[in-house]
Amino acid sequence: MNVNEIVGLKQQALDEARTAADAAALEAVRIKWLGRSGQLPAIMKGLGALAPDVRREAGRAANELKNELTALLDERKTAFESAGARAATASFDATLPGRWRASGSLHPITQVIERATAIFRTMGFTVASGPDIETVFNNFTALNTPASHPSRSPSDTFYLQDDLILRTQTSPVQIRVMLNQQPPIRIIAPGRCYRRDTTDATHSANFHQIEGLYVDRKVSLADLKGDVSHFAKQMMGPDVKVRFRPHFFPFTEPSVEYDFSCHVCGGQGCRVCKQSGWIEISGAGLVNPRVFEQVGIDPNEWQGYAFGMGVERIAMILFGIGDIRHLYENDVRFLAQLA
Ligand code: DAH
Repeated sequence: MNVNEIVGLKQQALDEARTAADAAALEAVRIKWLGRSGQLPAIMKGLGALAPDVRREAGRAANELKNELTALLDERKTAFESAGARAATASFDATLPGRWRASGSLHPITQVIERATAIFRTMGFTVASGPDIETVFNNFTALNTPASHPSRSPSDTFYLQDDLILRTQTSPVQIRVMLNQQPPIRIIAPGRCYRRDTTDATHSANFHQIEGLYVDRKVSLADLKGDVSHFAKQMMGPDVKVRFRPHFFPFTEPSVEYDFSCHVCGGQGCRVCKQSGWIEISGAGLVNPRVFEQVGIDPNEWQGYAFGMGVERIAMILFGIGDIRHLYENDVRFLAQLA
């Protein structure tokens, strides 16, 4: 076998590959030339008998045969395959029913937080955040909570270390913001809170609040009432009423608790509002000057209001949920109804 013969065989092999009519014929060409007992191995075996100088050239020609044939076979194989795929698409039946796929949705807690955030943004608030693990100083001391206050006790609060706890409220975010920013301040802070509460229909050891803080010159209780009422109408609908009751919090003076009229019965009295027509949302008040002193803001120059909202409370009355535990069990049959 000489070089010319090998080049001739190469032409023959390439012709066969070029004219193969379909994928099966192409495969037959591959087996005939490149298969284990095909032509190329036979040529290779024959090289051994050649004189060294002829062998080198013949070897090169044999390699060319192998490389050019392999490349052509691959190219045509790909072409046959994509033609097959095109044929399959051409037979697509647009009248068949589509394949149904379940799509997820936002959790009701997330929906409430996102809606509330959007409303407060229109009122000029920005979103601040703080960590779930807080210092005792930020969560209690700076918020003017006396050392003897029962909420500090390990039976009410999860302690990780002497000075580190799982925050019991989002109020410590107020401290973080005021330590880092000079007034005017207008922030909300949604987030998780933790308390050693026994779980029942209205309590959970892990829940969410949205904190609000507004610090400026000449802020009064009227600003608080107006802003909370505006928020309530945006969130619950134009007919909602808001009621403020005197209360006590260490970090506000004066302090109030506020209620929304019951969304479920429209204030007539029902099971959800325990026949009272009102649902307690949370606390609020004017920032206590002692809190301003803790963070180095001059209470003679600045005033502020603050509020906290129970996100689960709002979710429960907005969606008519009777038991807070539904919100944490992640039963898709429940969640899908509130998508
Ligand atoms: N942190 C309070 C709580 O968890 C709620 C609260 C009351 C927040 C009054 C405030 C406030 O910002 O001014 O019960």
